[in-house]
Amino acid sequence: MAQLAPSILSADFSRLGEQVLAVEKAGADLLHMDVMDGSFVPNISFGAPVIKSVAGKCSIPFDIHLMIDRPELRIPDFVTPQTEYITVHQEACTHLHRVIYQIKELGIKAGVAINPATPVTMLENVLTDLDLVLVMSVNPGFGGQKFIPVALEKIQLLASYREMMNASFKIEVDGGVGLQNAALIKNAGADILVAGSAVYGAEDIDARVREFKEKLR
Ligand code: DX5
Ligand code: ZN
Repeated sequence: MAQLAPSILSADFSRLGEQVLAVEKAGADLLHMDVMDGSFVPNISFGAPVIKSVAGKCSIPFDIHLMIDRPELRIPDFVTPQTEYITVHQEACTHLHRVIYQIKELGIKAGVAINPATPVTMLENVLTDLDLVLVMSVNPGFGGQKFIPVALEKIQLLASYREMMNASFKIEVDGGVGLQNAALIKNAGADILVAGSAVYGAEDIDARVREFKEKLR
């Protein structure tokens, strides 16, 4: 069974608290939070103050996706009692190994994301250090984009590396995930699926989360 991580990027920010509780109540596993700095990606979303104001108002674990340059300068800001994963981009880290251990030393699970143009082999030397690999299936920056199929090959490759290396990282997929491709992505070997517009764009958020969970069984 794969997990579902709704992304609040597509939520109605004027009703954020209630929209977070809606996915939690419907059985979502993690809350995916997209932090964008307008430099690493061409969009600005929200930062630590928003995440901190949601913490404590719900109990769903946080899956924080940092699309920012120099994440090592900001990582402690994203530690809350609910933070399960902090994920940085491979492309944003000159000293990736050091950043991974900076996250782990704060007692948080460490993830690394790779953009569609970045090969899995870029992570070869840190895979056994990681708790999570996030395969981007769109170019990061915006919700509602189309799934780029090369992600499926990357998921399969990561799953075989994991077995070969006796590693234990989870494989997460982010971008263009919908009800129509959820089973395909899960069957390729993904453990966690992120869905933004497919969850928060739905008329009935509760029903949509349940439909996703059904596909991920
Ligand atoms: C994109 C973000 C995603 C985004 C996904 O840069 O990392 O998490 O919210 O949105 P959808 O599911 O609409 O593609
Ligand atoms: Zn994301």
